[in-house]
Amino acid sequence: MINLVIFGPPGAGKGTQATYLAEAYNLIHLSTGDILREEISAGTKIGLMAKDIICRGELVPDSMVIELIQHQLDKNHAANGFLFDGFPRTVPQAEALDTLLVHYKRNVSAMLSLEVGKEQLIARIMNRAATSGRSDDSDRAVIDNRIEVYNQKTAPLINYYQKAGKYESINGEGTVEEITARLKECIARIPQNKNGR
Ligand code: AP5
Ligand code: MG
Repeated sequence: MINLVIFGPPGAGKGTQATYLAEAYNLIHLSTGDILREEISAGTKIGLMAKDIICRGELVPDSMVIELIQHQLDKNHAANGFLFDGFPRTVPQAEALDTLLVHYKRNVSAMLSLEVGKEQLIARIMNRAATSGRSDDSDRAVIDNRIEVYNQKTAPLINYYQKAGKYESINGEGTVEEITARLKECIARIPQNKNGR
């Protein structure tokens, strides 16, 4: 059983790679961004609260995403493992995830961090803007803010997982297939008996 965090700045390829990894390792893919966008489409109370925050490229409150994740862990308690995408994004979220997983007799096996240069991130997001329909993709100032918020609030998680011996850095530039292969090589090295539950 493995539980993975796929990590990286906006446009790093988390969602793209998560689709392949979830299938290859039979994991439940939990993207808080996707869940929040579904809440917005459905016009729920959470969606209404999150809409403007996402539009500006800021983070929604920790309590909101932690509750969404808790609900998903409950719903899928018998799963083989989870692949967290876009979560955790702050130190309090990472601490909450660790606490929640203990409750389910699981833990984070590894944090896979996709490293991609800023110019490439911006190019990928702007390229996607034409088709994604995402409110946070089309405005350059919002894209810059998302990257800034990542640097300030989310990048410190590298240190959090490094201290736990779970941080894995992966070159996130190249073709989608090349990056999937690098991720799989890295997953094959995870000491599952020690860390993965
Ligand atoms: P979220 O949906 O998580 O967005 P993000 O982190 O900004 O990242 P993206 O989804 O834009 O990029 P990605 O890394 O998944 O890359 P992708 O595979 O799509 O969050 C959105 C918002 O929701 C946040 O700003 C925040 O407001 C809120 N939120 C979500 N989670 C939260 C949390 N935990 N706490 C608080 N707030 C939260 O790839 C990008 C593009 O590049 C695609 O078009 C793809 O086709 C292309 N691409 C992928 N790989 C390659 C490659 N190798 N070469 C060329 N192109 C590629
Ligand atoms: Mg994504």
